[in-house]
Amino acid sequence: MAMIADKCEDIRVTVVDLNAERVDGWNSDDLPVFEPGLTEIVLRRRGKNLFFTTAVEDGIREADVIFISVNTPTKTSGVGAGKAADLRYVESCARQIAEVGGGDKIVVEKSTVPVRTAHSVQEILSAAENGHSYQVISNPEFLAEGTAMKDLEKPDRVLVGGNVTPEGRAAVDVITSIYAQWVPRERIIKTNLWSSELSKLTANAFLAQRVSSINSISALCEATGADVDEVSHAIGADSRIGPKFLKSSVGFGGSCFQKDILNLTYLCEHFGLPEIAEYWTKVVEMNDLQKKRFVTRMIDAMFNTVSGKRIAVLGYAFKKDTNDVRESPAIDVCRYLLDETAELRVYDPKVEPETILSTLGTKEDEDSVTICKDAYEACEGAHAIAVLTEWDEFNDLDFAKIHAQMEQPAFLFDGRNVLDLKALEEIGFRTYGIGKG
Ligand code: UDX
Repeated sequence: MAMIADKCEDIRVTVVDLNAERVDGWNSDDLPVFEPGLTEIVLRRRGKNLFFTTAVEDGIREADVIFISVNTPTKTSGVGAGKAADLRYVESCARQIAEVGGGDKIVVEKSTVPVRTAHSVQEILSAAENGHSYQVISNPEFLAEGTAMKDLEKPDRVLVGGNVTPEGRAAVDVITSIYAQWVPRERIIKTNLWSSELSKLTANAFLAQRVSSINSISALCEATGADVDEVSHAIGADSRIGPKFLKSSVGFGGSCFQKDILNLTYLCEHFGLPEIAEYWTKVVEMNDLQKKRFVTRMIDAMFNTVSGKRIAVLGYAFKKDTNDVRESPAIDVCRYLLDETAELRVYDPKVEPETILSTLGTKEDEDSVTICKDAYEACEGAHAIAVLTEWDEFNDLDFAKIHAQMEQPAFLFDGRNVLDLKALEEIGFRTYGIGKG
């Protein structure tokens, strides 16, 4: 919404949320989300054509176009628990829009939703019988965290799905005309509603599949002496495969990949396609295996036990340049290490200490987790270092100094293949990279 406000000064964007604390945050100088480049844009447009408010009903009444951008977490109970998306927030938005009225409107699904959710939203809006007409549009978001502003400014494509009726097409054109103010027309893809909804889930499933595929090969590399980075480079040079999303890691995380694949598998099961569901489930299972393999390798290397040993965990976010920890592989890796009664010293440049502690279900000091203010403090007296997020600053650390302050032999496990392991070996570390024999 900040990008729309910035690119379309003639459009008034009002972001409404029930959570007053959140809204206050967006109205302050310390935004609730860390995202490179976002603060500048918000400060530039706020109070001009970008507003944040808790006045939800006014926002609905006055709008011509409403983007539903609520979360759709995986259901934790009931039918489809652990797989299906919880659509209660989407549904309550639709109901509220219908209740408030205020004229004909275009309602845009921005949240990632299961295929045919637009149909339910349309039904709820039509049932209102308030004399207004509504067109539902699917306009999924493809930005990645950490690079969101770049992705929004120069998107590979913008997807706008709508009803295949004259009214539906007109609504698609309205949304298209917003993006066309800065996105080349040929990058704006118009589809029907269901194709648009399914494309979002499929894009994330394919990306996650690439990571799981290369991670499956990393296991074979470790066993054979091949180097997974060399394999990635070699296969990525094939223009049919391409170089992106082939970086082997301790596993993928983030709010989308796992959730969207589970969503896809639930849909497949629902439509009587269990084999297709099973095929995609493997992508998630491979990711779980990768995190377990990482810890198993640590234990094996460290003389078959990490019990009572101090482990420095460098990085906790699910990737660099974000403070988001949703589904971060670091959570599972740390939990497995705690199960083995290791002592953890965690440092992340952007993640709040309380977030780390709450995701681990522990309180500092009472348990075996200490949050540190920098990497040096985390590594002091440690038996091993585990790099779990690829923050750039880890490359600039003085590893000779760190090595001197660690228990010997000092182990280093690079879960992101970002450090120069050869140089670290020369300092005296025993190093282990993902997919490196
Ligand atoms: C993803 C999609 O990229 C985006 O289009 C969609 O809208 C939301 O989901 P995001 O979750 O922000 O975006 O992160 P992304 O950059 O896709 O990375 C996901 C995870 O995969 C991270 O944990 C990352 O570290 C991991 N990853 C990515 C790898 O392990 N190897 C790679 O080569 C690429």
